[in-house]
Amino acid sequence: MSRDSVDLEDLEGIGPKTAQLLKSKGILSVKHLALFNPEELIELTDMTPDRVEKILRSARDIVFGSNRVSRATDLARSFEGIIRLKTNVRAIDDLLQGGLEPKAIYEFAGEFGTGKTQLCHQLSVTVQLGQDKGGVGGSVVYLDTEEAFSPSRIVNIAQRFDLDPNEALDNIYVIKVVNAADLEDRIKFDVVKLVEQANVKLIVVDSIIALYS
Ligand SMILES: Nc1ncnc2c1ncn2[C@@H]1O[C@H](COP(=O)(O)OP(=O)(O)OP(=O)(O)O)[C@@H](O)[C@H]1O
Ligand SMILES: [Mg+2]
Repeated sequence: MSRDSVDLEDLEGIGPKTAQLLKSKGILSVKHLALFNPEELIELTDMTPDRVEKILRSARDIVFGSNRVSRATDLARSFEGIIRLKTNVRAIDDLLQGGLEPKAIYEFAGEFGTGKTQLCHQLSVTVQLGQDKGGVGGSVVYLDTEEAFSPSRIVNIAQRFDLDPNEALDNIYVIKVVNAADLEDRIKFDVVKLVEQANVKLIVVDSIIALYS
């Protein structure tokens, strides 16, 4: 059984009622559920600790496998031939050994006006390109904490990469974030939902620091 074909109801200890409760709290899939820690889920659902632990354990086993021990040699092999996302800024791609790795978190730091937001916009376009052009054919969630997102910059960049500007804009989900607590909420709920339902391959937070300054 593949992890994507498992419904919440199929999990041991979850009946239709509990599945409904979880869905009402924004937890739509076993994959999402598996990422919760017990304290968070207890707070969210008022279920007993024993029950929560049992449910989370079986969710993790399904999503990540019940045997998660692997030899480092096998792990090393799994990194061979991974598809990287190019920024198409040659110096940065060289620095990143060809582009951004999948499933990785990158932090771009620099003084104001150095191009962090520009790079985020460029990646929001290049991620949509096909693999032959250095992209991964995905859409984007852009968490915007400083009202920095600019559709006109996207249009310019899309034209530069021969992508239909309207299509490029259509594949970017912009979420306005108002403070640090809101960022957490948006990631836990809106972002998870979009990742599951909208072929999202890139999540941008521009910027985190603005929330703490
Ligand atoms: N709409 C725009 N079109 C073209 N260039 C722009 C536009 N907005 C900003 N720029 C320029 O692009 C460069 C990089 O700006 P960018 O906003 O990416 O910097 P940043 O590193 O995100 O800065 P900050 O720390 O203030 O957010 C700057 O020289 C800026 O003047
Ligand atoms: Mg910026």
